This record gives sequence, structure tokens and C-alpha cells, in this order.
Amino acid sequence: MLRSNESRAEKVFRGTFVHSTQNEAVQILEDTVLGVDKEGKISFLGRADEVKQLSQTWEFQLSDIRQLKQGEFFMPGMVDTHIHAPQYSYAGTALDLPLLQWLNKYTFPVEKQYRNAKFAEDTYTKVVKRTLKNGTTTACYFATIHTDTSLLLGEIADRFGQRALVGKVCMDRNEAVIDYKESTKESVEETKRFIYELLKRKYPQVKPIITPRFAPSCSEELLHSLGQIAKSNDLHIQSHISENREEVALVKNMFPACSSYTDVYREYNLLTSKTVMAHGCHLTDKELEMFKTSGAAISHCPNSNISLCSGMLDVRRVLKHNVKLGLGTDVAGGYSPSMLDAIRRALDTSKALKIQNPGYETVSYKEFFRLSTLGGSQALSLDDTIGNFEVGKDFDAVLISPSVPDSPFDVFESDTTENILEKFLNLGDDRNIVEVYVAGNRVVPFEKSA
Ligand code: GUN
Ligand code: FE
Repeated sequence: MLRSNESRAEKVFRGTFVHSTQNEAVQILEDTVLGVDKEGKISFLGRADEVKQLSQTWEFQLSDIRQLKQGEFFMPGMVDTHIHAPQYSYAGTALDLPLLQWLNKYTFPVEKQYRNAKFAEDTYTKVVKRTLKNGTTTACYFATIHTDTSLLLGEIADRFGQRALVGKVCMDRNEAVIDYKESTKESVEETKRFIYELLKRKYPQVKPIITPRFAPSCSEELLHSLGQIAKSNDLHIQSHISENREEVALVKNMFPACSSYTDVYREYNLLTSKTVMAHGCHLTDKELEMFKTSGAAISHCPNSNISLCSGMLDVRRVLKHNVKLGLGTDVAGGYSPSMLDAIRRALDTSKALKIQNPGYETVSYKEFFRLSTLGGSQALSLDDTIGNFEVGKDFDAVLISPSVPDSPFDVFESDTTENILEKFLNLGDDRNIVEVYVAGNRVVPFEKSA
């Protein structure tokens, strides 16, 4: 059968592919051939013994196949469902206070500096490069209240080829740092300008996301307007929810007419199937049901939850409620920009819950592998496009080599691919991530000029 030029395979890889499906947290495809079309979509996935047939159907030469080296494998790119780009400048420091005090003392004074484009360009370039090198092919970013430098974050993600949702932060309430907030009108108008300008630029992988910082930073009027803007433009929404107990009590006080924290966002049309809420450590069963019913997702940020002593999300309980769930680094509440760290801290949290309650059913490394890839794509409602190696999805992938010269772990003859995956998730780092692809484009290693 002859194919149109559109479906020709432009790139073909042969080797081991590891990914997740709805039924299998880890599916290992050994000696497999995968083709990518010129749009960056996976055109076929087949067994190597079918390669001749595949080459005729998809019009490629056998000599054009890129054969992976022994031990190497591709896995889907990781999806960071919650990260604050401006906070990267102090990641790894300032972890000695609980959330509300931490925001006032460290976060707001830093974020207000992002009015300055030079400062923003430097941090935003560093955070995009650092996360890409660590295998984050999709990042869901909070920027700051400044529209122009929030647009700059979108431009930089596009420049380096990272897939991103970018949010201009909205906050018209802030008693601690009075020069880091907007008027209600300004916040609404600037959000509209941000969306208009970002969409106008037509970056193929960068989209805007409506971003009320969290309920305590927003007036009811602002929340209402943001819900309207999201609804009339069918936009993604992100915020924070039930991160620590003091914050939950504050929200109860500030929004006495609402029955719960979740009810505040529901009331203002901010709890939709395109919503992702960070943390959710202290949600009740009833609130989790509201998430399930609305199709809203939770971003589990374990490093941050531990670092700021916020709480421990019971992932098993969230999964039992069938709520969409992804992992997030939450830089800089979380000190590491790496999704491998998010997987490790998520495993630690699950085990800490078992120490507290020996009957607890821990979540396995395989399930966290799925949450870091396919789960993240579902949490961001991008699972039609990314998350695993299903034909028709974009090829967002990382090439892992366990045997780079400076590898932080060793491989033994007895190791299976499954063992090597587990070692990489527990012990590996960016040295093992030798190439990164977004929509079929190789984005790591960086171009020499970058
Ligand atoms: N809640 C409101 N803003 C923030 C933030 O910047 N980081 C975290 N971890 N929680 C928040
Ligand atoms: Fe956060």
C-alpha cells in the first residue's frame, strides 16, 4: 500500500521501549521498531521481525534505522504537573518555615523582582534547560503576576523546545508584601492580555493556563472572573489546594459560605476537567468525590510536602477515588527540579504512611513511573497527545543509557530491563538521560549556541 507523504516515517528507532498503559504500569517492549512522522507523531510501533514489511508501508530505508545500543532504552518524557519557574533561583534553600510564613518571607519578595526582564530571562532560561536535561518534556509552570515576563517564559520554553502550560499568576490579596499584588481589574485585564498575546504567537507546544495563585490570594470577584475567562476560552486552570492545615483553616475563615476548600473553586467554575490542583494533602472523601465528578486532577508534590512539613498525600486513597493524578516538583517548596526526585520522594511518602499504619498498601515504583508520565498527561488533559508510545501521539521521549562512563549506578549481568529501569528511577540522574525528544524534535543535547 502506498502512503501519502504525510505519514512517511521520518525517524525510525529500533531497540527497547518502556512505557505505561492503562492496564500495565510498566510495559517493556524489547526489540521494537518505532517510527516518527514529519509532524513528530508516532506513526507505527512494530516488532523487529516485521521491519521489512514496515519499511515498505512507511517508506523508509533499513539503513536509516537508528539502532539503540545494548542496555539503552526509550521511556516517555516526564510530565512535571506543578512547578514555579521564578522560584528556581532559590531552589535548595529557604526550607525552614511552614507554607504561609515561607510565602511571606521568601517567595513574594523574590517573585516581585520578575518585573525585571533581564532577571526573568536568566532564571527562566536556567529552569527550562535544567528541567529538560532532567527529562521533563512537559512542564506546567506558574510564572509571576507580571504579564510581559510570563510571556517571556513561554518564549523561552518554545526556544528550547519544551512543551509547557504557562500561567500568569493572579493575586489581588496580599497583606504581607504590599507591592506584590494587583488590583482586581488589573489582574483580570492582564490575564486576558496574557492569553491573547501567548495564543497570537502560535508556539506549537506552549499554551496558557488560568492561574489564581490560591484562594487566600484572590477576592471572590477575581475568582469569579477567572472562572468566566477559563470557561469562555476553554482553558486549562491551575492552583493550590489543601496543602497545609493552617491554610485550610484560613480558607474556611475567608470563605464561610463555602462548605469546603474544594467548594470554593467549584463555586467559581474553577473545578473543571481541565483543572490541576497542587497538593491536596488534607482533602476529605467528599472533596475527592468532587474532584472525581468534575474531572479535576491533583498534582502530588511530595518533596514540597515534606520540605515545608505540609502533609503527606495518601496516593492510594486518591487512586481509589479514581481522581486523575500526576507528580510535580513544586520548585522551590520542593527543592529539586528533577522528576526522578519527585518519584523517589513519592515512594518515601508512601512508605512513611505504611510505617504509621502497617496495614497500608504502598504505591509501587511502577505506579509512580506511570504517574510521572501517563498520569501527568492525564492530569493536564494532554493524554490524547502525550504520555506513552501509542501510535498517533507525539513522540515525547527520553533516551536512557545505564552505562554512560560516569553513570551513578552499575549494571550487572543478571540485571533485566525491569531491574535497570528500577535502578535508574532510584539511582539515576541526568547523566543517564542522553537524549530528549519533544514532538519528534531532539531538544537535548542542546544546540552548541544555546
Ligand atoms: N500556595 C500558594 N502559593 C504557593 C507557592 O508558591 N508554593 C506552594 N508550595 N504553595 C503555594
Ligand atoms: Fe506550588
